[in-house]
Formats: sequence, structure tokens, C-alpha cells
Amino acid sequence: MDLSRYIITQDASELVAEKRLTIVFGSAEVAPFSKTGGLADVAASLPTALAQRGHNVVVFTPLYGHLDPHQMRMSRRLKPLEVPRQAKTQDKVEATLWETRLSHGVQVCFVQADDYFGREGLYGYDDQSFEDNADRFSFFGRAIVEFTRRHALPVDVMHCNDWHTGLAPVYASHYYADEFADITTMLTIHNLAYQGKFTPDDFQFTGLPKSFADTSKVFDANGDLNFLKSGIQYADRITTVSPGYADEIQTAERGEALHELLSERSGDLEGITNGADYNVWSPDVDRHIEVQYDVESLNGKRRNKADLQHRMGLPIRPTLPMVGVISRLTEQKGIDVLIPTVRTLLSDVKSDRDGFQLVVLGEGNKEYRDQLQQLQQDFPNRVAFHHGHSEPLAHRIQAGADILAVPSRYEPCGLTQIYAMRYGTVPVVHATGGLADTVSDLRDDPDTGTGFVFNELTEDAFAGALERACAAYRNYRRWRPLMVRAMNRDFSWDESARRYESLYMAGIRDEMAAE
Ligand code: ADP
Ligand code: GLC
Repeated sequence: MDLSRYIITQDASELVAEKRLTIVFGSAEVAPFSKTGGLADVAASLPTALAQRGHNVVVFTPLYGHLDPHQMRMSRRLKPLEVPRQAKTQDKVEATLWETRLSHGVQVCFVQADDYFGREGLYGYDDQSFEDNADRFSFFGRAIVEFTRRHALPVDVMHCNDWHTGLAPVYASHYYADEFADITTMLTIHNLAYQGKFTPDDFQFTGLPKSFADTSKVFDANGDLNFLKSGIQYADRITTVSPGYADEIQTAERGEALHELLSERSGDLEGITNGADYNVWSPDVDRHIEVQYDVESLNGKRRNKADLQHRMGLPIRPTLPMVGVISRLTEQKGIDVLIPTVRTLLSDVKSDRDGFQLVVLGEGNKEYRDQLQQLQQDFPNRVAFHHGHSEPLAHRIQAGADILAVPSRYEPCGLTQIYAMRYGTVPVVHATGGLADTVSDLRDDPDTGTGFVFNELTEDAFAGALERACAAYRNYRRWRPLMVRAMNRDFSWDESARRYESLYMAGIRDEMAAE
């Protein structure tokens, strides 16, 4: 028996020998290198948690134009990767592989193919998607497969994420069924609304044979080439990022026209709630914030609030509730409900001591941007809006705000509310997907509640929840225990990483049984 293939873990005080897995984790974003949203955080923190459990994990991701491998001291030890673009072996592109490491030995491997990725922007630029995304991410899917096949150690799991990697399971099963017989292919859906849909003409870039050009394979019922649908169909196992969302995506309402396929595959579909990396998102170690603090030193939070008010040009008002929003400015995030709700609530404010202040950090849709700027102009002492992507400001809002508002229309998991709790910033969330799974309402659970939850995404319901939060904030004897409870809720990856691990293992058992 080759013992190097096993790890010893301690589960509930019992020592268990488990297989040391080798996992290739394909993701179009990885924090802190490239990020547009939560996928990047998960692509760094889940592999780290798996590595902490003893597994070999390599994250495979594009080298985008803003990343300079020399400046970042990446190494180039691996042989260039040959990536066929047509059929099994034709039209090879040679890509350079660069490496660096995250904590706990997680290797990050960047694939350099400048024609596809050597430009500013991940998926597009200035609100416009790149026109060659079908070509770029067909390449990426194929590259993940070639990398997995050529890895120095035999790979047990090829874990793909979102539509950008959707074709990888297709290539693996079509071209290399034998080689992949022992490799579990997994696809995690972080957001079903983004499917990577392209025109039939774009099919040429996949390099797949004509026999694939029908709705049963890589096309969907609307006749679009659909990367995510392809992945859902061909991956051995599918996960999504909360149990609530796993149920929702099997319904017509939230299934984005793929609910029937997802229901057919429900036996292979599981919802696993994302975790947080508390080495990055915790006020006792956060290097971006003015003063570090924890449950024992909550005064520190007040200083972060004053710092945030100062930086955002708002009056320094220690007792006025401060509401934070950190969000992509898209329809998903309910910004269209946030803006009029805040406008109404602030218009009703009678005295200086009433109401709240609002800080919004967001990037996206121009219409929302304009409306937020207008809101700021109309309520200069109450509203501050920062447009753009700013990692430091995201941390400062988590630390300085009292309340974090997340009125998402739907939310596969949501990380900002999870992070907020750790900072004692009480979340106000719409009861959907991962938000409903991670926040419990104070009214329903007076002893265990960690936030405020509203059921319908309407201005009235959201306003009601915000008002309840502000009223609770004004009574420190009620508020303090709520903050402390939220801070003590543990969303570290441990439990969820264990669940991924058992799915990987189950995949391996299935393969052994099939042999
Ligand atoms: P989603 O992935 O749908 O955008 P999540 O809540 O899962 O939502 O993750 C959002 C992540 O992106 C968090 O890490 C949050 O701090 C970050 N984020 C969102 N908008 C910005 C922004 N404008 N600047 C910096 N970070 C942002
Ligand atoms: C997606 C979802 C978000 C989730 C994130 C990480 O972007 O919109 O809810 O937290 O992926 O899984």
C-alpha cells in the first residue's frame, strides 16, 4: 500500500486514514489575483481549507493582462502546456504555465495565452463583454483538461466552477473517457443566471465535432451554445453554494430554464454553504481597517465607524446607525429596491437623530450608478457612494458599519453577510437562497437570531426590516448581545470542506464500483 496516498485526519477524536486526494480546481477568478465577486474568494479559500485537511490542491486559472508574473515573482518550472483547439489533437496552442502559492501549500497555476487573456478585464471591459468569450473560455476549459491529464501526480478530482469551465467535463468525457475513468469531474454552480450563452456560430471555437451541435449536448432549448448547461450535463457531480439555492434552481421560477435538467440530476446535486477565510475576513487580524477588534474590544468598532464616516465625507455621528452595502450593481442584488427604499426612509427623517447613514461600495450598471450618485447629492449628510472595486474599502465598511444590507433578488450563497457577522455588523437580508440559510431573524429566534430577514422583496418589507434594525441599534442592551452572537457564529470552511471531501470520496467509490 502506498502510504503517501493517505492522510490521517482526526474526526471527532477518532483517527481516520483517508486517501490524500489530488485536486485540480479550475476557476476564472482567484483572490487576491483576479476578482469580480465571491467566486474569487471561494477559489482561494476552499482549496486552502482542503489543503489544510491534507490534500494536494492546485488552482488553475488564466493569467490576465493586469497580472505581471515577473513582478509577482511567479515561477516557470512547469513545461508549457499544449492545448489542442480542434478535435482531439489538432490546432495546438502552446501556453506558458506560471506558478505561485497560497497559504498551506496551495499551488496556483496561471495559464498564459495572451491572445485570450493578455488584456485588461476578465470577461469584458467597461460594461461590454468581450466578443470572443466563447473562444477564450473554450480554450480555458480545454486547458484545464490538458493540465489535469499531464499533472505530475495522478489527479483524483477535476473541480470546475461556473460556466467559464463548463466545457471541461465535455472535453474530458468525449476525448479522454479512459483517462478520466478514475477522475471525478465536479461542477460547482456559483450563479445559475450566468450560463455562458453564445450563438450557434460560436460553436466552431469549441473544436468539438459536428455531432455535438444539437440540443441534447452543448446547445440549450433556445438554440444557444450554452457552456453551463454543457457542464451540468457532463460533470459526474454538481454542487451549488447553499442548500436553499440547490432547491430553488430546480424550480421553474429560479431555474433559469435549466430546472428540468437540474431536477433530472438531483441525485448528483448538492448544496454546500460557502465558508469564510477568517485569516482575511476577521476584525482581529484585518490589516485594511483602522483599528483591529474582537468581541472583547468592541470599542474598536466605534473607531472604525468614525474612520469610515471621515473617509466617506459623512458627519461623524457615533450614535446614528450606519448601514453598509458592498455589492455588484446588478439586478440580482436588488439595487433597484434599495435606492427608492432609502430615498423614502431618509425623506421621512424629521430630526438629526432619526434615520441612518448609508455607505455604498459598488461597481456595475450605469443606471444604478447614476441613481446612487443622485441619492448622495440629495442626502449629502446621510449617503456616501463609492463607485469602483476597492478591496480595502470593502473591509472598512465591514468594520465600520453597524448594519449590512443585502436586499438581493436571489442569492446563491452570498459572502458579504457572512463576513459582516464576523465584524459584528448585523445583516438585513431578503429571505432567499444562501441569505436565508445563513441569517436567522431576531424576531423569530430572540435567543439565537443574528440579523433581520424580510420575506418579500418589496420596498415596504425592506424598509420595515431596516427600521427594525435601526430601532434595535438604538437600544444598546439589545444590540450588543446581537452583535456578539453574530460574531460568534462560525462560518469557517471546516464543515463545508469536509462535505466537499466526502463528495469527492463518494465519486471515487463510484468509480471503483464501476471497475
Ligand atoms: P457575488 O459573488 O454575487 O458578487 P458575494 O457576496 O458572494 O456576491 O461576494 C462578493 C464579494 O465581492 C465579496 O468579497 C465582496 O466584499 C466583494 N465585492 C463586491 N463588490 C465589491 C467592490 N465594489 N469592491 C470590492 N469588493 C467588492
Ligand atoms: C456567486 C453568487 C454568490 C456566491 C458566490 C460565491 O457570485 O452570486 O451568491 O456567494 O458566487 O460562491
